[in-house]
Amino acid sequence: MTEKNFVPSDYKNEVLEGRFTWKAPSNIALVKYWGKDKEQVPANPSISLTLDNCATTTTVTFSKLGGSNENPSFDFFLDGNPKPDFKPKITTFFQRIGPYLPFLEKYHIKIETSNSFPHSSGIASSASGMAALALCLMGMEKKLDPGMQEAHFYQKASFLARLGSGSACRSIKGSLVQWGRHLDTVGSSNLYGVEYPYEVHPLFSELQDTILLVDKGSKQVSSSLGHQLMNGHPFAERRFLQAHQNLTELRTVLADGNVQRFFEIVEGEALALHAMMMTSSPYFILMKPNTLEIINRIWAFRERTGGQLCFTLDAGANVHLLYPAVEKENIGSFIERELAMFCENGHYINDNVGSGAVQLD
Ligand code: PMV
Repeated sequence: MTEKNFVPSDYKNEVLEGRFTWKAPSNIALVKYWGKDKEQVPANPSISLTLDNCATTTTVTFSKLGGSNENPSFDFFLDGNPKPDFKPKITTFFQRIGPYLPFLEKYHIKIETSNSFPHSSGIASSASGMAALALCLMGMEKKLDPGMQEAHFYQKASFLARLGSGSACRSIKGSLVQWGRHLDTVGSSNLYGVEYPYEVHPLFSELQDTILLVDKGSKQVSSSLGHQLMNGHPFAERRFLQAHQNLTELRTVLADGNVQRFFEIVEGEALALHAMMMTSSPYFILMKPNTLEIINRIWAFRERTGGQLCFTLDAGANVHLLYPAVEKENIGSFIERELAMFCENGHYINDNVGSGAVQLD
């Protein structure tokens, strides 16, 4: 499979106008993607859990123009308000996907989007947002080409979402999604995410994720810059190899339900990601003192009670607390008692593993 497989041949149908709404979830990586080549080709493979409650809902309304537009013609609304500051990112996205959705230049598009999580929560909306938008655009393409196979629809949606934001390609379909070529994972690709093809113990399909909102502000260093700093990073090659090895090991860990080893791999990945940030040039730290407080409390709680929980981090200060569904009550009271006080205004979000995006109309 190459990029060329996503360039369509002529469309059979003529479509003047229409509207699609998709709700796409956020995801949290277990093995982290950090470092990329041009056009969101990942430097190493990654795997993520699809979330359920944290999601973006996007409606795309389109109407055919008299001629073709050289620049993408679109309006963008967040929670009903025009957001001109989002336009450059979406313009770049439209330019990148132009060769794969050539019909776009013939339409005016209205994009209306909203997130289930608060704007200022420090939760990135780019993965869920780009995934929801890509699915709406695929809805348009399927109207032009009604014979399109479902597998192609989702694969191309993931391919397009990746061109908007790398990790967005893991927010399309499935509970556990792998992205990036990995020798031990059949069907894996740098171009799109694939549903994890191997056995997964039920314990992991019901994982809970409580997101502890340590810092709701926007990040001091964007993930695009962070990825860039992996070019020429002194530990890059070793780190990429580590991600490959962790993915290989996860295969038996996930099948056997080996929670202990799962926790070690997941926490190790989170700290390796932040270690890369701390050893970049220039270096930076996204964790806050309360991030470390929480991590230490989690370790102490695990040691003291044998509770089954671990943490992971994305490119920010918030902590994702992962635990099996059976631990919900026990860990819920631990969060209230010992962790909520380290969150901004005591806020956290309870989420769990979901199964991917859904069409709403
Ligand atoms: O998709 P981006 O460019 O926002 O990068 C995401 C990077 C991490 O969230 C830190 C890791 C990952 O695999 O999601």
